[in-house]
Amino acid sequence: MANSVAVNGNDGTSIGMREEACTRRMGILDRLRRFWGCSLLEKNESIADFYWFCKTQLYYRRFFRHIGTRSKLLAPLRLKNVHHISIGDNVLVNKHAFLLTVALPGRPIPRLAINDGCVIGHMNHITCVNEVSIGIKVLTADGVHISDNSHMFMDSTRAIVDQSIESKGKVSIGEGSWIGENASVLSCNIGKHCVIGANAVVITDIPDYCVAVGIPARVVRRFNQLTGSWDRVRA
Ligand SMILES: CC(C)(COP(=O)(O)OP(=O)(O)OC[C@H]1O[C@@H](n2cnc3c(N)ncnc32)[C@H](O)[C@@H]1OP(=O)(O)O)[C@@H](O)C(=O)NCCC(=O)NCCS
Repeated sequence: MANSVAVNGNDGTSIGMREEACTRRMGILDRLRRFWGCSLLEKNESIADFYWFCKTQLYYRRFFRHIGTRSKLLAPLRLKNVHHISIGDNVLVNKHAFLLTVALPGRPIPRLAINDGCVIGHMNHITCVNEVSIGIKVLTADGVHISDNSHMFMDSTRAIVDQSIESKGKVSIGEGSWIGENASVLSCNIGKHCVIGANAVVITDIPDYCVAVGIPARVVRRFNQLTGSWDRVRA
């Protein structure tokens, strides 16, 4: 409203406000016209989208630390201790994701952040006991696992399920990066605009503008600022 011209019309409403309402009406009409023109399948998808949007904004939002505008979580989902999870604007979390935080006794509260514009694939498992930060516009493919912790297994007399979990170090994934199908990112930092290959297991830090693949993930390409090309990196 800061930029609208607040001149009063005869009925007392400002002209700026009326113009804004008119543009909004046109936008809605345009959307309805587009919706009417699309196939039954696309109509179904749009209705489902709208349902997920409403459920996220009206229901999930009450439980999370924060959920920004236009973000959508698609159920079925498994969610635990989501009051430590912040989700930015325009984030899409696809079906069958498992988002979990655990506050460990005597440790700072966990902080899991999925920043603006992220697209989280299906069946992603994102777990945090310390700090996990997924940067702006990160894309994760299906089946990605991101974790800052591990089950302890040192006591050979007790089942591992009965032993504690412990942070193995924070996770950060830089802005604009892409994590390939079924990759695992374990207690490490991935830079900006990186590509992590399908099935990689990332256990050490990956610098900005790199392609890393394999188990453990190694850098195979790096962006060359001088030539503007992605140069191969030989082992
Ligand atoms: C990593 C990827 C993007 C290819 O990147 P690239 O820079 O074009 O890599 P190249 O094909 O030039 O291969 C470079 C090296 O990495 C190897 N490599 C590529 N992808 C690999 C992978 N996923 N796992 C293991 N090794 C891989 C290649 O064999 C090659 O090895 P070499 O140096 O011994 O010859 C692609 O292979 C990949 O994994 N994409 C993810 C696909 C995906 O998950 N899609 C989901 C859609 S959201």
